[in-house]
Amino acid sequence: MLKFKNIVALAAFIIYATTSYAQTPTFHLDVAPIIYNNCTKCHRVGELGPMPLTTYDEVAANGYYIEYVTQSGYMPPWTPDHNYTTLIGERFLTEDEKQTLVDWVAADMPEGNPSDNPGMPDFDIGLQLGNPDLVLTMSEPYLHGGDGLEQYQVFIIPTGITETVDILAVEIIPSNNAIAHHGLIGYTSNSASINAAIALDNADPAAGYESFGDYGVPVEDRLFGGWVPGSLPLMFPPTIGKIMEPGSELLLQMHYGPAYQDELDQTTINIYFADVPLEREIETYIVTPANLSVPFYIPANEIVSFHGTVYVEDDISIISTIPHSHLVGKSWLVFATSPDNQDTIPMISIPNWDFHWQGIFTYPSLLHIPGGYTVHAIAEYDNTSSNTFNPNNPPQPMWFGDFTTDEMYVLFFQFVEYLPGDEYISIISDPIVGCLGDVATNGSIDISDILLILSQYGCLSECEADVDGDGAVSISDVLAVLAVFGETC
Ligand code: HEC
Repeated sequence: MLKFKNIVALAAFIIYATTSYAQTPTFHLDVAPIIYNNCTKCHRVGELGPMPLTTYDEVAANGYYIEYVTQSGYMPPWTPDHNYTTLIGERFLTEDEKQTLVDWVAADMPEGNPSDNPGMPDFDIGLQLGNPDLVLTMSEPYLHGGDGLEQYQVFIIPTGITETVDILAVEIIPSNNAIAHHGLIGYTSNSASINAAIALDNADPAAGYESFGDYGVPVEDRLFGGWVPGSLPLMFPPTIGKIMEPGSELLLQMHYGPAYQDELDQTTINIYFADVPLEREIETYIVTPANLSVPFYIPANEIVSFHGTVYVEDDISIISTIPHSHLVGKSWLVFATSPDNQDTIPMISIPNWDFHWQGIFTYPSLLHIPGGYTVHAIAEYDNTSSNTFNPNNPPQPMWFGDFTTDEMYVLFFQFVEYLPGDEYISIISDPIVGCLGDVATNGSIDISDILLILSQYGCLSECEADVDGDGAVSISDVLAVLAVFGETC
């Protein structure tokens, strides 16, 4: 949470930025807020970003580089097009922010007055959802060698529960953020799958077993949980969630980025049980080559596109959309159309697919797709040598499969059956539990919450003050807080 003095500084910054825009930007006044709010979460010691961006010297030393990666859109990492759909946790710089960085670099990166520096946000806010009901940790640390190579390793984690439980949230906490690039959890209670996973584990001398594209064995839920750097744990709305059964196991797939010295990781999974019984269990639909009208085959040296469709029989509410292809994947475009083609519901557009930055892309509120609509999933693949990620040199024909040298056409969506009013149910990724509106987390809903909202007014990404979770800090957040004004938490 922002400290009060930061709020004042932020408010001062907003006023300054709108009144004296023409002045040369300085680090402390103009650049630091942009870097701290969009970059430093990952770019500080112990995190995945390859260099810290916390001080004037660190940022200035990388100034040209920062201009380059922000102009090209490579940083901050966020592959979906934020103009197409709003998604939880999206990261992007506004045109004004990018221009400030360009102007600052062009002016030779002036430092300015240190007293203008807003200070870094408090990144280590600890357990964001309170105390978990079940804590599961990898049975042994995984040794990630300092050979500069990436690794996709799966770890078997028995749940150990003795009765069926309703799940409200699943949180993945890597122990080593300097190497953890993503984590995905598969859920299975199928003994054949569990035994197959154990066999793979036994055959791999390291902790866990290597598996690039998936969990290496079939699982009932491939998206029981997910994490990427900087992502907030996802809490499902009341009465909507997942269940976990006795005898079940979690398969945790960790993607570790390149390291240049040996590193250890022993990731923990926190499970939060639902306080109120579930009324709707989250289901997953998987679009695969079975949804295509042509075979999934990508000839060498060609750019090809596949258009799969899914007919939605009954009304559903979508929680998240998760496209998945491998290294030759180039783009994804997903939307739903009405039977008469007069209505289109955008779902996700990823113009530049990047295998290294996958995510469970979640809507701020449930996305209603009426029965009778058709979901379209269009994926493009660049199997030429100009695709720098192409695992084959020279390019080779590719088919569907789990290995690096295979390709994938898979789109998951997590959904529940639709109930009227679902459009207004927000999926809260905000850490405030039980006391929605206590943005300043001081235990009551008062003027400090309103001030915090006003200081972030207009914020469109990773906004703490986005109380109603619609992806923007706007008048609706002020109203939401006023509705519970005076409440103690
Ligand atoms: C979610 C974590 C995250 C955020 C947020 C983030 N970065 Fe990065 N950054 C990384 C990682 C990880 C890499 C290493 C390359 C990779 O894995 O894609 C990287 C690489 C870079 C590089 C070096 C490029 C290279 O490949 O050598 C620069 C420069 C950079 N980031 C600047 C920024 C700036 C500026 C911002 C904010 C506008 C930012 N980053 C936000 C994680 C992040």
